[in-house]
Amino acid sequence: MKRLPVLRNVDRLEEATSLDPAVEKTRGVVDAVLRPRWLRDVLHGVPMGHPVHPLGVHVPLGAWISAGVLDAVPGTEQASRALVGVGVLGASGTAVAGFADWSQLDEKQQRVGIVHAAVNIVATGFFAASFVQRSRGKHTSGKVLSYAGLAIASGGGYLGGHLTYRQAAGVSHAPDVEATFPSGWQQLAPLTDLPEGALEKRVVADTEVVVFRRGERVSVLSNTCSHLGAELHDGYVVEDDSAPGGACVECPWHQSAFSLDTGEVIHGPATSPQPRFESRVVDGTVEIRLPR
Ligand code: FES
Repeated sequence: MKRLPVLRNVDRLEEATSLDPAVEKTRGVVDAVLRPRWLRDVLHGVPMGHPVHPLGVHVPLGAWISAGVLDAVPGTEQASRALVGVGVLGASGTAVAGFADWSQLDEKQQRVGIVHAAVNIVATGFFAASFVQRSRGKHTSGKVLSYAGLAIASGGGYLGGHLTYRQAAGVSHAPDVEATFPSGWQQLAPLTDLPEGALEKRVVADTEVVVFRRGERVSVLSNTCSHLGAELHDGYVVEDDSAPGGACVECPWHQSAFSLDTGEVIHGPATSPQPRFESRVVDGTVEIRLPR
């Protein structure tokens, strides 16, 4: 089946460098406003293990769609008005989480993302105007504004789908090592070949891993960052009291931090953990395997 011609324009947004000045300005504002790292972590969804934004979107869309249904039923004006208001409030909170995620995407994703945001802001404006009209008792114009807002929000939703399903924003980029890594212990390297206290990239059974050695203790994670696929061995080792074992690897692209001992996310924007390997030393050789 052929794709609708108008939808092919969405692909062109990815290459639209004319959007870059707006992207840069907006990113500067987001970075300035969402400065505390704990706040960003919460907005990214680190405590949940999934991005918050797609979950939060249910509030405005659910409320607005419900208001649209009620608007077709006589005598439900007050309920519709309340739903429109809830949707406007929900959209504002969801937008903050969305901007936090957006500010840590790559340039093509940010171009699509800024149009997605602009369309949804316009849609929210229509619903806010609808709420005002309904509060003044002008329910007919309130309904018209709501239905127009719903149509615009559908366009915004389509762009959000493009970001997630086509451009893979918000999904884990870590490889599925459980499906590809052989079972049992695999040789990594002689212990003395591994540098002390530094990140090292190795390839075991066609799988890239990042290795960190402290004496005979060797931490091994998948080398591909779960956020957007950067190579973690190019990052940094940082100490963080909240991380099991204290030591983390910090991604060179957007500074996600993963516990070197467990692979869990200590700081976002990543929300998916890094695949971890168990290690042991046998006759001076380090071996690794998937955790049981
Ligand atoms: S690629 Fe973005 S934090 Fe690693």
